[in-house]
Order: sequence, then C-alpha cells, then structure tokens
Amino acid sequence: MTNIEQIKITIDTFTNTFGIGPQGVWKAPGRINLIGEHTDYNQGLVLPFAIEQSCYALIAPRKDSLVRVSSIRSSHKPITVESPHNFDLETLTASTCRTWLAFPKGICYFLSKKGMNTGADIAVLGQVPIGSGLSSSAALACAIALGLNEIYSLGLTKMELVQLVSKAENIFAGVPAGIMDPAASLLAVKDHLLFLDTDSECYEQVPFLYSSQDTQLILIDTNDRHRLSESGYALRRQQCKLACEQLGVKSLREITFDDLDSTLSKLDDPLLRKRVAHVVTENQRVISALDAVRSNNYLTLGSILTQGHMSLKNYYEVSTQRLDLAVDTAIQSGALGARMTGGGFGGSVLALAPKSATSTISKSIEQSFSAQGFAAPTIYFPTPCQGAIRLS
Ligand code: GLA
Repeated sequence: MTNIEQIKITIDTFTNTFGIGPQGVWKAPGRINLIGEHTDYNQGLVLPFAIEQSCYALIAPRKDSLVRVSSIRSSHKPITVESPHNFDLETLTASTCRTWLAFPKGICYFLSKKGMNTGADIAVLGQVPIGSGLSSSAALACAIALGLNEIYSLGLTKMELVQLVSKAENIFAGVPAGIMDPAASLLAVKDHLLFLDTDSECYEQVPFLYSSQDTQLILIDTNDRHRLSESGYALRRQQCKLACEQLGVKSLREITFDDLDSTLSKLDDPLLRKRVAHVVTENQRVISALDAVRSNNYLTLGSILTQGHMSLKNYYEVSTQRLDLAVDTAIQSGALGARMTGGGFGGSVLALAPKSATSTISKSIEQSFSAQGFAAPTIYFPTPCQGAIRLS
C-alpha cells in the first residue's frame, strides 16, 4: 500500500469512527541523532535529522470541551481502530499517565492555556517503531500539536510547539527528556542536519550530502526495546544535576572542553566524573562532527561517531550488549564509524559506511546477531527527511 492509499483508508476510518471527516491530516517524523547524546537536558549541542517513518494525526474540531482520541493500526489488514478514549478539556489536570494518551492529554492541557477553548476528535496512525530510539513519542506529540495549533489558529511558533511538546512529555508522560526530539520532528529540513544549541535555542540547517561522497547511512534497529521512563534515563539526569550542584554551575554546558581536567579534579565521586566527562566531550564532538560534515571529511566523521559510542558505553553507561555488537560488527566489516543513537538502554545503532560496503555490513550484523542467539535486527538505509507538515 502506498502512503497516499493508506492515508485515504485512514480518513475513511476516521469518518466511520467519529461520524465526521477530519479537517486536516498532519505528519510528523521520527528522528535519528547523528551525534550529541544526553546533551540536550544539559543545555548542550545536538545534531539530529528527521527520518521517513512518521506519525500521522487526523483532527476535526469540536464545539464542546470533549476530546476523543483513537489510534489506528494499519500493520495488518483489515485496518483496526481502537474505540476512542475520551477526556474533557475543562476537567483535565496535569498528572502522569502511563499510556500513549499522556501525549494528547498533555498537549491539549497546555494548548488550552494558549487559547484552545473547545475539544477535538483525533485519530493517530504511528509508523515510527516504538522503543527503537527513533523518537516515536515526539512524532506522535508533534503531529497532534501542529494540527491543533493550526485548526485553532493559536499562532504558536514551531519553537514554542517544541517547548510545549517537551513539557507535555516531562509532566504527563513522566519522562524528563530534553527538547531534541520535538525540535528534530518539527524543525528538520530534507537533506540537512539540524544543528541545535539547546541553551540559546538557536539552530541552523546544515546540508548533509553524504551520498555525493559515496557513503551511506545504515540504521540497525536491534529490536531490543527501551522504555525511557523505566530506565536509568532519569537517573542520568539526576546525576548531572548533582554534578552541577557540586561544581557550582547552572548546567554542564558551562564547562568547556579545555577546563574538563581541572573540573573533574573537583569531583570526588568517580561516577559523576564519568558522567561529566561524557557530556563535555560530547558537546565537543558535535562541533568536530559539524566541521567534518562541512568539509566532506567522512573518514573523520566516522571516527567521531565511534568515539561518541565509546563514551556512551564507558562513561555514560547507557549502551547494551546488542548495541555494542552492532557497532563492533559494523566497524569490523567496513563501516567508517558507528554509534548507538537516542537515549540508549536498547534501541538502534547508526553506522556510516562506504556505499560499496553496505551489503557486507548488513549481512555481517545479521550473522553476528544470529550467532549470539539474538532476535534478528531490522536494517534500514535512512535519509534526512522533511520535518512535520500538513498533508491535506
Ligand atoms: C531521548 C530523549 C532526548 C535525549 C536523548 C539522548 O531520546 O528524549 O531528549 O535526551 O534521549 O540524547
């Protein structure tokens, strides 16, 4: 089924479910982070891009304060639709919810403070694999937020929507994530990386033309699912906060690469030293990676990616056996570099490889997973795609 056919069927499903057609369809993509991991909640630098896999939100406004949300599943035929979950804008309070409904609830809650006075009928179709480190949650949240902002003419800028989605994730989903994922989903541009300074919130679209250099991106989804709210993600954030308190800084961004050694000597706890070392060197790697991209130096870029992985594995300790296996096998079979992408504790690896080596690398990874008795990974060849848009 093509995307257009699928959207048409989805519109029919919406109409059957809610008894009225949607006013529009919005698409928001997942993301891959090239480098800059666990830096966003430390006011640091990130360099993600949007991917093809997206979430679609179909929305119709309502005249009362009810919000009805339903999820459409299209992976097998016939397409199925969950019976709608209802909540009322007037009685909605800021509280944590353990299901995907946290996102529509959080977004409606914060948009109601910005002038969304009546409810909506919403159906979502998510095609970003969940728990793969590709930001399925931000895709879902951004598609809904962009659509409601437009339907209700609220006039929020994309950066304001980024902050709103991030607040919804922090407060309603209980995940203390930074702004990288919604920023990538809402602001990314096709064939570009999004270079974002999460402190100043300034950003720049940087052309990423790896294909003209005979290189290819390979994404290896280990199919080892993560759940950030249950993982050590929150613990890492707390450790960074504790390090800031002990160092007397507002955020780890204040520590420059040149000051790293003297800063580390002020911390007694070896664990905190490791966490700080990762964050500070990772910010520096984002800058080096940008230089490498701008000068088409893909050999150097590859080695920066691998250094980033080693830091996440040894200093930040968020990698897993399967992520390490995918990284090691990719490099041994010809990749220029590879690293886990996203929050870690499962998820995906991104490798940069000469085009000629991609099929050998893919086969070697499949074989190494099978030899270890791991479930087969899913391998994609992603390209940087356009950020969130209205489709119809
Ligand atoms: C998750 C979070 C992001 C970011 C990454 C790690 O994807 O949602 O905000 O912290 O982990 O870089």
